[in-house]
Amino acid sequence: MNKTFVKNIGLLCTPTGSHVHAGAEQGRITKIENACVLMEEGKIVYCGPQAGAPAGAEQGAQIVDAGGRLATPGLIDAHTHLVFGGWRQHEIPLKLAGAGYLDILRMGGGILSTVKRTREASEDQLFEKSMGFVAEMLSMGVTACEMKSGYGLDLETELKQLRVIRRLAESCPMDIAATFLGAHAVPEEYKDDADGYVDFLVNDVLPAVEEQKLAQYCDVFCETGVFDVAQSRRVLGAGKALGLKPRIHADEIDAIGGAQLAGEIGAVSAEHLIAADEEGMAALARGGVVANLLPATSFYLDKTFAPARRMVELGIPVVVASDFNPGSCPSLNLPFAMNLGLLRYKLTPEETLNAVTINAACSVGMEDRLGSLELGKQGDLVIWDAPDWEMVLYRFGSNLCRTVIKKGRPLAL
Ligand code: NIG
Ligand code: FE
Repeated sequence: MNKTFVKNIGLLCTPTGSHVHAGAEQGRITKIENACVLMEEGKIVYCGPQAGAPAGAEQGAQIVDAGGRLATPGLIDAHTHLVFGGWRQHEIPLKLAGAGYLDILRMGGGILSTVKRTREASEDQLFEKSMGFVAEMLSMGVTACEMKSGYGLDLETELKQLRVIRRLAESCPMDIAATFLGAHAVPEEYKDDADGYVDFLVNDVLPAVEEQKLAQYCDVFCETGVFDVAQSRRVLGAGKALGLKPRIHADEIDAIGGAQLAGEIGAVSAEHLIAADEEGMAALARGGVVANLLPATSFYLDKTFAPARRMVELGIPVVVASDFNPGSCPSLNLPFAMNLGLLRYKLTPEETLNAVTINAACSVGMEDRLGSLELGKQGDLVIWDAPDWEMVLYRFGSNLCRTVIKKGRPLAL
């Protein structure tokens, strides 16, 4: 039997329940001092004060002594573009000279340059590279994540990216949700014909993705000069009809109505929302949409930060994720994004913990098994070299993750 007993946890911090934590509840977490967690066959069978541990907890168990440190649920990175060819460090001089993100894209760089490199890369090359990223994420306490396609923009390469994601899910100790983001940019082949490209996605690519069961979500980059609201509505509607749940890159640079669309179609999440206005946020609140906020992207693009406090006030559940990608956020460091969530969004430590655990789990459909340390949930737990959660957020830039337990098994990091 796979049995693991984590003892001597100085402080255990976790959300409670498997629902989104919004409004005042975004700031509520359970704290247990002198705790322990017992896991059997990958699931939590006891989580609470050590004094109340079941008799025989240590018997036949692998013992992990937390040494008085902090334990939390495994972190969940609910927004990444992790599978891609090449990098884009050659854009740095353009950035320093003042070129904006959309300027670089218009010049044929940006996403389209990564598309070229991703098309050239073999499936095995993409897989190997992505495995390295997954190992890096695990080493920082991230035990589940979402990954998107969107650097193929043709049938073959979109499917190739999604197959890599499936292989990663099958071979890594990481729970992974897959998102089809064929509508990430308009490819060269359809230059000046975004509608024609949308037709192609709807008629050819989406049905293939669905038939091969390669994704659970469909996403679109709704932005000035990329896909407008009508085109985004078509893509997400077609995806939804095939059973792919909608999520949307909205109001990253300009507020062109993406948040309203998210609310209207009942998207699972709207991502970025840097430029979200009152009307857009009202639509999110009405539609029960999760706000997937990506502060490291604001940092890297030198933009303002999404109005996270206002969202909490409006009862919109807030998630903080990395947005790891080679263009707007070449960092997969979720703890760094959490630190920005605290310092720039002004989320409290408790709100930040819910943002990267239970709310993130809800936004990627894993809330029944992940996102909190509770009876019956999967044994995904992190021990931090810290006495409390505040320390993890405060020591930005350092990796305080000490031990990662995935499905009840300690990982060799
Ligand atoms: O979330 N905005 C669209 N997609 C990514 C950036 C992708 C890229 O630049 O390669 C984002 O910021
Ligand atoms: Fe993104």
